[in-house]
Amino acid sequence: MLERVLSLRRAAPHADDAPADEDEDAVYVGRDESKTRKHQHLFFRAPNRASNYLTRINYVSYWPCAIALFLLLILAFSFFFTSRGFVCISSYSPVSRVGFFGSDGHESDFGALGVPWCRSKHGKTVEWTAKDLLKGLEEFVPIYETRPIKNNMYGMGFDHSFGLWFIARWLKPDLMIESGVFKGHSTWVLRQAMPDTPIISLSPRHPEKYLKKGPAYVDGNSTYYAGKDFVDFGSIDWPKVMSKRGITDLSRVLVFFDDHQNELKRIKQSLKAGFQHLVFEDNYDTGSGDHYSLRQICDQFYIRGGGHSCFKDSDEARMRSRNKKFWEKAVDIEELCGPGETWWGVRGYMRDNFNHSNKLISYVEHFQNSRFLESILDVYWELPPVAGPSLTHQTRYDPARAPSPIVEDGRYGLFQRLGLASLDNSVFNGYTQMVYIEISER
Ligand SMILES: C[S@@+](CC[C@H](N)C(=O)[O-])C[C@H]1O[C@@H](n2cnc3c(N)ncnc32)[C@H](O)[C@@H]1O
Repeated sequence: MLERVLSLRRAAPHADDAPADEDEDAVYVGRDESKTRKHQHLFFRAPNRASNYLTRINYVSYWPCAIALFLLLILAFSFFFTSRGFVCISSYSPVSRVGFFGSDGHESDFGALGVPWCRSKHGKTVEWTAKDLLKGLEEFVPIYETRPIKNNMYGMGFDHSFGLWFIARWLKPDLMIESGVFKGHSTWVLRQAMPDTPIISLSPRHPEKYLKKGPAYVDGNSTYYAGKDFVDFGSIDWPKVMSKRGITDLSRVLVFFDDHQNELKRIKQSLKAGFQHLVFEDNYDTGSGDHYSLRQICDQFYIRGGGHSCFKDSDEARMRSRNKKFWEKAVDIEELCGPGETWWGVRGYMRDNFNHSNKLISYVEHFQNSRFLESILDVYWELPPVAGPSLTHQTRYDPARAPSPIVEDGRYGLFQRLGLASLDNSVFNGYTQMVYIEISER
């Protein structure tokens, strides 16, 4: 029954280095310490490493050992099942964590709790394929290794850096705009994708401020609306800026948001300005995050993989409570649901500006927001995680609410060939469903 219900929900989408001053930075970028956490639960390492080891060893030359191991496993399993009645093992015991990956690392929970995929007007999707992503990864890893800001805590990790680089490189825009710069890592990523394209960077604090205390990146071909020159994206006279630059075709502009503002607000501002290609870095899942996101807006009962039950005695509640023990970003029913069973946004709140502002919205309003989005959405594409948790050892996002990764669990050979195994685990701990959208007026 559980499997049946879950499979119905399973959505196959069409598819600061120690900050300059840590406390000060936390104010500027919002506290999300676990974004690039270095530590991971010890418990994860053993099964993951074991599965990776099994993948790595040359099993042909070790086949007699493999047969012996297999027989031993059968024995152990039969003992386990026959003794279950005597030994009380809760299905939520940490022991079941192994179940996320299975003994060979192939099994996982990806999408089991739904992956709400925003509906576009005409069902259009992106041009790139899984093969293109893999090819892109191969090219991007050596580039990423040369990044100037090695520890980008509070900023983008590997997954989203790759996503932004890939999208910018694919679209080849004439102008790139970024809102939310911090120390400049995303500016650097955009520069790697498009070496000669001008950038406009908006952020209350100029990245050069960080240079005094450690690594930061200031781009020579970017116009900074930062520090004393800061202007919010929604207050810039874009037609004037575009005409000054001689940009007449706004479909040649890519806008990247990593400023933790209500994404509905940013979309409306972009539409008004005539921008069509947008990327949102933190596309937070329902029940989490400091701003209203596309993921949250599209999480609706009528959307495949969307909608929630606040019923405590439900399969969703049980699975969420189990997953909460394993993944930092997983939320259980208690956190997901507010008074009156409000589950949309975060407990019924539409958050904005690093959660400095939040507003309770009714389900009707939330529903209308999604209908509005559908009326202007041409393409919706969530970046998948680069690799499964048994490979990256990420401890943060809940696979049950994520699309399947580019490099699936168990494919250690590929993970290693791509150069991903040589990266520090901490860089894989920042995945929050980065999304690329294309929009146009009805
Ligand atoms: C998460 S950080 C950006 C990380 C950066 N993109 C990176 O890759 O490292 C968020 C940034 O948004 C900035 N910010 C806050 N309010 C903003 C606003 N209204 N417009 C633009 N940026 C804003 C913060 O000061 C901070 O630098």
